[in-house]
Amino acid sequence: MKIKHIGLLGLGTVGSGVARIIRDHQEKIQNQFGFSVQVDKVLVRDPKKIPEEFRGSFTVVSDYREIMEDPAIDLVVEVMGGIDFAKECLEAAFFNHKPVVTANKDLIAAYGKDLTRQAEEAGVSLRYEASVAGGIPILRALRESLAGDKLESVTGILNGTTNFILTKMTQEGADYAEVLKEAQALGFAEADPTSDVDGLDALRKVVILCKIAFGADVPMAKIPVQGIREVTPQDIQLAKDWGLVMKLLGRIQTSEQGEIFAEVAPFLVAKGHPLSQVDHEMNSIYTQGKASGTLMFYGAGAGELPTASAVLGDLLTICQELEQGVRPVAFARYEQELAWMSEDEVQARHFFHLAMAKDSQSLTPLLDQLGIHLEKSLVVPHDSKEGWTDFVGITELISYAQRQEFMAKVEACDQLVLRSVYGLMD
Ligand code: HSE
Repeated sequence: MKIKHIGLLGLGTVGSGVARIIRDHQEKIQNQFGFSVQVDKVLVRDPKKIPEEFRGSFTVVSDYREIMEDPAIDLVVEVMGGIDFAKECLEAAFFNHKPVVTANKDLIAAYGKDLTRQAEEAGVSLRYEASVAGGIPILRALRESLAGDKLESVTGILNGTTNFILTKMTQEGADYAEVLKEAQALGFAEADPTSDVDGLDALRKVVILCKIAFGADVPMAKIPVQGIREVTPQDIQLAKDWGLVMKLLGRIQTSEQGEIFAEVAPFLVAKGHPLSQVDHEMNSIYTQGKASGTLMFYGAGAGELPTASAVLGDLLTICQELEQGVRPVAFARYEQELAWMSEDEVQARHFFHLAMAKDSQSLTPLLDQLGIHLEKSLVVPHDSKEGWTDFVGITELISYAQRQEFMAKVEACDQLVLRSVYGLMD
């Protein structure tokens, strides 16, 4: 039986998962594809850290050229993370006409376009299913199963760490800092968890989804991003009483005129919406398409085996391409120019929380002036300044431009202090 030879860059959590699945699912792979897959060489920084179970199973190297320049290696799997060194390795792989599978969202969000071009010029595949939502095969679903549809929006819970924190805060009233420590101990927070809590990890996944779902090259800097650091237990509880659940969402929407808008922010999701049911570290992506209607994908967005499973899917697809000797079609082939939607066009209902000087008459005229109508509101006790009270409300549909204006006007008014504003997802 033919063997496909793999060069693995990195043997951390995901790398070990890849090596384990290849070892443990060999019989199924041979049965399904008629070839076997073998990890021949592994690039690691510290060979002493190789787990006992893998000792002697493959050659350990410390210089990536030993993989890239080895004619026996058919395919390179990059699961190290980080940007600069990983990019150098991928470029060396393409230079040597070797296809690549990567799980590296940071690298693809920053350099996906450039690396795709290099892979195409080299006539090899670059696939990165595992970079978005771990074990959920969302990129393949968008690129292949939904290829014939025109998507209108893609909304996702794309970061397990923040979903875990918000779930614990919602269900148990847990303290933000304590839960973050728990998420780190459980192993799904990034090495530097600021990427998680500030929304940057979700942002990178949104950039990749913009490309695969809409063919749009949207630079990271273009997308507004807000993390969960400022989310308070009080707002979570107030919203919960109104049937709303706090979730960090990555949201991409398009207009009839062919414009796009993307953002990452905490949203209040109506309890009847399926995304409100996605708890703990789980991820989910909700799509709306002209033909397919609404679809929802759910599963583990991180972790050794779920992420490795997505890597294996890509790896086996490329092995089949190699077996058939076909020139691969670029994974991110879909390309279209989309203008950015104006803030007048993007609309949502909003939850807001203000502190106001008691007996202040400032809020009603301000809302009237901006044409903002309230669906409901509530006065709640203020926790610090004497002579002040708190006011929470839910607006009818308003544009993002109206929201910006509202925030600016509250800021300028010495009788009002804005505590929070969140969009609603119905
Ligand atoms: N830190 C990420 C998360 C890992 O919490 O979802 C997967 O990208």
